[in-house]
Amino acid sequence: MTSAPRHLAVALAGGFMPERASSVAAGVDHVFGFLFWLSAFFLVLIVGLTVAFVVRYRARPSRPGPEPSADHDDRLELLWTAIPLVLVFAIFAASTKVYLGMTSAESGAAPLRVDVTARRWSWWFDHPGGKGSKELHLVVGRPAELVLASTDVIHSLYVPEFRLKQDAVPGRFTRMVFTPIAAGTYQILCAEYCGTNHSLMSAPVVVHPDQASFDAWAAEGRGPELSLLQVGKAVYDEKGCSGCHSVDGTPGVGPSFKGIWGQTHALAGGGSARVDEGYVRESIVTPGAKVVAGFENVMPPIPLEERELQGIVTYLQSLKEGP
Ligand code: CUA
Repeated sequence: MTSAPRHLAVALAGGFMPERASSVAAGVDHVFGFLFWLSAFFLVLIVGLTVAFVVRYRARPSRPGPEPSADHDDRLELLWTAIPLVLVFAIFAASTKVYLGMTSAESGAAPLRVDVTARRWSWWFDHPGGKGSKELHLVVGRPAELVLASTDVIHSLYVPEFRLKQDAVPGRFTRMVFTPIAAGTYQILCAEYCGTNHSLMSAPVVVHPDQASFDAWAAEGRGPELSLLQVGKAVYDEKGCSGCHSVDGTPGVGPSFKGIWGQTHALAGGGSARVDEGYVRESIVTPGAKVVAGFENVMPPIPLEERELQGIVTYLQSLKEGP
């Protein structure tokens, strides 16, 4: 086989995609391939019939006017309604299944949680143990949980080899859950136009072959910047949180912070809420929105920087087992 046909054959078999390096990549490729070949089939069918009918029914001396034909056929109409209906439901089912796999945590090993900060025009990654870096580091086979924040405008974290893309939106936390399946170094791109240097907003993602390799990297010096845990502890001590919220389980004016991360609380006025990133942010920015049952809302909104909010979230997680 000569080179050009071989390239074509590889492309037709799906080889025009980059390497698959995450647990969701194969599913994305299958949905993409299904859509691609379905579209190709109908493109050929419709254009082919159009050309055939133009030739077959063109005006010519032997055929001065249109021939009589039926203007309606129930069976035909039902058929060309039913076939697309089945196809779009198949697309919906297949893509929803893949999408749910991108957003919900997988069972099994504890995920490697990384706080991601997007800003014009760079990425910052806070890894477990306090290691901050301009590079994202993960471990092959270990679930990764990325919690994204933005300090300015909307960005989007995109890794072609992972087939994953997630917006980082100012004023809220977003999340990506997946498992890297191939060790190596890939490139993170920003996939949401965010101004002058949008196209330069990239960073490496290093997938380590094992946990020991990751730990060795994480044990290298951290640099001068404070870890998120240090930031959160400082906010707790200096912004007045400690006046009302204990960290040893003693109820004060407000609920104690000890062990609340991940718990579901009953709310004053009914309902319940789980203590996660979104709840913590809301409770700081809009303290009256969800008040824990048994407490009065007397807290003023606390204006915090994005990094301070991430710090408080990290600090609360560290209190899961007590201070
Ligand atoms: Cu950040 Cu585009």
